[in-house]
Amino acid sequence: MIVLGIESSCDETAAALVNDKREILGECVLTQMEHKTYGGVVPEIAARSHLEHIDDILEETFKKAGLHPQDIDAVAAAAGPGLIGGVVVGVMAAKALSLALGKPFIAVNHLEGHALAARLTDNVEYPYLLLLVSGGHCQILIVKGVGDFERLGTTIDDAAGEAFDKVAKMLGLGYPGGPIIERMAELGDENRFILPRPLRNSGDCNLSFSGLKTAVRKIIESYAPNDNIEHAILQKHDVCDICASFQLAVTDSLIYKLQKAIVIFKTRYPQGKDLVVSGGVAANTYLRGKLQQLADLEGLNFAAPPVKYCTDNGVMIAWAGMERALKGLHNSLDFKPRPRWPLDENAPKAAGAGGVKA
Ligand code: KG4
Ligand code: ZN
Repeated sequence: MIVLGIESSCDETAAALVNDKREILGECVLTQMEHKTYGGVVPEIAARSHLEHIDDILEETFKKAGLHPQDIDAVAAAAGPGLIGGVVVGVMAAKALSLALGKPFIAVNHLEGHALAARLTDNVEYPYLLLLVSGGHCQILIVKGVGDFERLGTTIDDAAGEAFDKVAKMLGLGYPGGPIIERMAELGDENRFILPRPLRNSGDCNLSFSGLKTAVRKIIESYAPNDNIEHAILQKHDVCDICASFQLAVTDSLIYKLQKAIVIFKTRYPQGKDLVVSGGVAANTYLRGKLQQLADLEGLNFAAPPVKYCTDNGVMIAWAGMERALKGLHNSLDFKPRPRWPLDENAPKAAGAGGVKA
């Protein structure tokens, strides 16, 4: 079986073809550069760019795979959550192909794409514990099967990637913030600035990054004669130290709450073997190293998709589509794209998981 996957929910226009032997037959990703000057993704610019490039991306993907559209068995698209103007572009392209080819359409939750990516790249088996950290989401989940998630914790404010992006913006480092903060942090002293670990004592697996961002802002303000961070006089080593201290605080918070989640996971699913990380922030080498150490300590296998399948891509959508197709989980062509779409919306709230928000 061959499935086409289309991704257009944020600032990547992407497509891929995968088969049920876990082979990637062809893939194409275009990262929009138009947003760099704005310090974040501008929804209308993103939507227009998806519209302009989607046809070429699809054509290129089939060309790379040496396949014809008639060769596929189903067409999947990320149908949310995300920036609705972009999501609509990918979903409409998928629906048009589905109608023209007479092949089933599959609406994939973008987060399910991230969540199942490691099943393609690392052959991970259900159930597993997942840290999903991207620009828009930060969740700790037990993945029990396709569409079957138990959320143990979530951020109550900013996503981890969002915090990286906002701190980078405050430091004038550009967008996206994650990769550049990681590079600067390599040169810095992570113990120079003591930053808070929000929700440390909340007793649940929830996270918060908004206060951390404010604490970084205060540090930058202390270098500005008039408290205006745009006038801050920072030497390169100061910036590197701020980046390193911030990266440590984020990682430390994630590891601390994951330790709690591992206790719950082991109690409820003693057969579970894997700790998985996914989403754009999972590209961070420092975080991956700390997660590997945690998994070793807890006697779990650690799995992280290769970096290019952690950030948004078409392969993860094609694979989630494949898992759904293999179960006959198709959608009708009147499926409405969803700007908000919690992964665990149909699951009963897990006892002891703490008050989480959608
Ligand atoms: O999953 P993704 O590509 O898009 C969303 O679905 O949000 O994640 C993008 C996020 C951005 O916030 C970006 O700054 C962050 O992932 N990111 C990183 C790294 N590479 C990307 N964060 C920390 N370290 C990195 N190396
Ligand atoms: Zn994503």
